[in-house]
Amino acid sequence: MTAGRYRYLFSPLRVGPVVLSNRIVFAAHLTNYAEDGHPTAQHAAYFEARARGGVGLIITEEHSVHPTDWPYEKLIHGFDESVIPGYRRITEAVHRHGTPIFAQINHNGGQASGMYSRLPVWAPSSVADPMFREVAKEVDHREIAEIVAGYARTAEHCALGGFDGVELQCSHSSIVRGFLSPATNLRTDEYGGSLANRARILLEIVAAVRQAIGPERALGVRLCGDELIDGGTTIDDAVEVARMVETTGQVDYVNTSIGVATATLYMIEASMHIPPGYALFIPSALRKAVDLPVVGVGRFKDPIQAERALADGHCDLIGVVRGQIADPDFAAKARSGHAEDIRLCLSCNQECVGRMGLNRWLGCIEHPRTGRESEPDVSPRRPGRRVMVVGAGPAGLQAAIAAAGRGDEVTVYERADAAGGQVRLAATVPNRAEFGDLVRNQLAECARLGVNVKYGVDVDADLVLAEAPDAVVVATGAVPERPYWAPPDGTQVVDVRQVLDGSATPEGRVLVVDEVGFHHATSVAELLADRGCTVQVVTPGMVVGQDLGVTLDMENWCVRAAAKGIVQTTDCLVTAVAPGSVALMHHPTGQPREVAADWVVCAVPAAPAEQLYLDLKARGGIDVQRAGDCVAPRRAHAAVVEGHRAGVAL
Ligand SMILES: Cc1cc2nc3c(=O)[nH]c(=O)nc-3n(C[C@H](O)[C@H](O)[C@H](O)COP(=O)(O)O)c2cc1C
Ligand code: SF4
Repeated sequence: MTAGRYRYLFSPLRVGPVVLSNRIVFAAHLTNYAEDGHPTAQHAAYFEARARGGVGLIITEEHSVHPTDWPYEKLIHGFDESVIPGYRRITEAVHRHGTPIFAQINHNGGQASGMYSRLPVWAPSSVADPMFREVAKEVDHREIAEIVAGYARTAEHCALGGFDGVELQCSHSSIVRGFLSPATNLRTDEYGGSLANRARILLEIVAAVRQAIGPERALGVRLCGDELIDGGTTIDDAVEVARMVETTGQVDYVNTSIGVATATLYMIEASMHIPPGYALFIPSALRKAVDLPVVGVGRFKDPIQAERALADGHCDLIGVVRGQIADPDFAAKARSGHAEDIRLCLSCNQECVGRMGLNRWLGCIEHPRTGRESEPDVSPRRPGRRVMVVGAGPAGLQAAIAAAGRGDEVTVYERADAAGGQVRLAATVPNRAEFGDLVRNQLAECARLGVNVKYGVDVDADLVLAEAPDAVVVATGAVPERPYWAPPDGTQVVDVRQVLDGSATPEGRVLVVDEVGFHHATSVAELLADRGCTVQVVTPGMVVGQDLGVTLDMENWCVRAAAKGIVQTTDCLVTAVAPGSVALMHHPTGQPREVAADWVVCAVPAAPAEQLYLDLKARGGIDVQRAGDCVAPRRAHAAVVEGHRAGVAL
C-alpha cells in the first residue's frame, strides 16, 4: 500500500491555529528523562527522532503546574520558569523537521503521594487513592484559584519555550479528573454535585490557559471516556463535558483516554491481552457530539488499522504511542509504502510502561536506541568482514542486525528449523501471539540488511574454525535446569518449554511451579486449563507471576485464572515429588503440605548453553563474543540489548 492509498492518514488537518501534515499523533507519555524537574537533551533527541520519522503532531509528557504535584521523581516542574531553556531545546529540535509540538500540563491531584514534595496532596475531596493510599487535603477556594493560576503560569512557560500548543490532561490522572468524577468529588459547594459544577474548575482552567497562550497557539483537552471504576465517569459524562468544552469556543481539539491511572491503569496502556480497538467507542461517541477534531488512542499498532478508524469516522487523529516508541519511523515507513518494514510494537509493556513503574528511563524491548537517542550512534565501519552468528533467537538476530548495519557480511546459523528460540515458544500461547512479532520484526530487518540465515545446522567449534569467519557471536540461549527436588528419571516432572513445544502433554491434575515470576508459569497454566487439566500454580513468592504487575497483566491474569478454575498457592516451596503427589513447605510457618498432582510443570531458572563459547575460547585465535541467555538466562530485553552490544563491538 503506498502513501497515496492512505487517503485519510496522510491528509492534513487544521487544529485551531496549527496545521498538521498528517493524522498520526505521538500522544503524551512519561519518559523519566527529566533531571531535577528539568527537560533534558535526551528529551530533545527522543522527540526529534519521531519528528524526523514523519509524525504529524507530538504531545510531550505531562508537566506539573504546582509544587503540591510531585507523584514520581522525574516529573517536569512546568510551574518553575527555569524549565524554559529546556523547552526551547525540545521545540527547536522538533521544529527543524517542520513538526508541531504541544506540551501536556497537569496536576495529578489525589493520585499522588507527598513522598517527593513533603506536602499534603491536593484533591477535590479527602478521598484516598487506591494505589497511593494517601488521604488527600480537600482544596478550599483559595487553593482552587492557586491551581488555576498554576495552569496559566505553566502554559505561559510553554508558550515562551516555543510549544505550538498546550494540552490539559483531564483524563486518567489529574485533579480535573478528580473533580469531574463522582467517585472522587464528594463536595457540596459550587465545585461538586451536578456535572456542570464538577466541570467548573476545568472551564476556569480553559479560560485562564487560553488567556496565557493567546490565539496563536492550540489548546486541547484530554478526557476520560470511561473510568471503569464504581461510581466513576462514563461515556455519557464524557460526551457532555466535551460539549461544554466546545461551547467555550476556546478549545481546538479533544483527546481521549480510558481508565484511571491508579485503579484501572491496565486499560490505559493495554497489553496484548486486550484486543486492538478496545477504546474506539470513546472518540466515536465524542465525535458525534462535537465538531472539534477528536483524537482516538489505544493499541493502534499499524497504519492500516489507523486508516480504517479514520475512514470509518471514529476519530480525526490517531494516537500512536507505543507504536512510535518501538519504531520512530512509523509514519515515514507507512507514507513511503513500506508499512511491512515497521517494527511493530508488541504491547508487551516490558521496557516502556514497565520501566516507568520502576523509576527508570523509558526504553523499548525491541529497539535498543529508544531512550539513548542523545548518545552518538555507531558509525558504519568499512564493509568486508565475515561474521558468523550462532543462534537465531532475539540475541543472535539483534547481533546480526547490528553487525550487518555496520557493513559486515553476516550469516546466522540456527539449529532448529525456525528462528526465535524461546520467544517463538512463548508466542504459541493463546493471547501471547503478538510477542512473536519481536522475531518477525528482527527477521524482516535481517532480510533488508542482507543477513543470510541458515536453519537446521548444529554448530560446533570445528565448524566455526572450518568456516573461518573474521568474528563470531555465540547466542546459543539457555537450557532447562531440572530442579533438585525432581526425581531423576521421572517423566512426571517437565519444563514449561516441553509443554509449549509439544514434547510433553500433561493431563489430569497438574501443578505448575512458578519460580521466575513472569509469563512462563501463568501462560502454561492457562494453556493446560484450556485443554481440560485441573491446574494449580504454586510459588515461593507472595503472588503468582509477580512481575505481571509491572507489565499491567496482573489484573486480567487473575480474572482469567479465576474463570478457568486455576488455583493460586503462594509462599510455598516444593520439597519432593512422588507418584500422584507433591510435597510443599509453607515457608512462613515451616509447615508441610501435600498436593495431589499427576504432573509437575516447572517454570524455574534455566542454565546458560555456553559450551560452544567456552570451546571457542579454549581453542583461541578467533574473535568471539557472546550475548543473551548463554551469558546468563534473563528476559528478552537483555538478549536484544546484549545482541546489539555484541554486534557493534565486533
Ligand atoms: C510509558 C507511558 C506513559 C504514559 N504517560 C502518559 C501521560 O503522561 N499523559 C497522558 O495523557 N497519557 C500517558 N500515557 C498514555 C498514552 O498517551 C496512551 O493513551 C496509551 O499509551 C495508549 O496508547 P498506545 O496503545 O498507542 O500506546 C502513557 C503511556 C505510556 C506507554
Ligand atoms: S516495550 Fe513492548 S510495549 Fe513498549 S514500546 Fe516496546 S514493544 Fe511496545
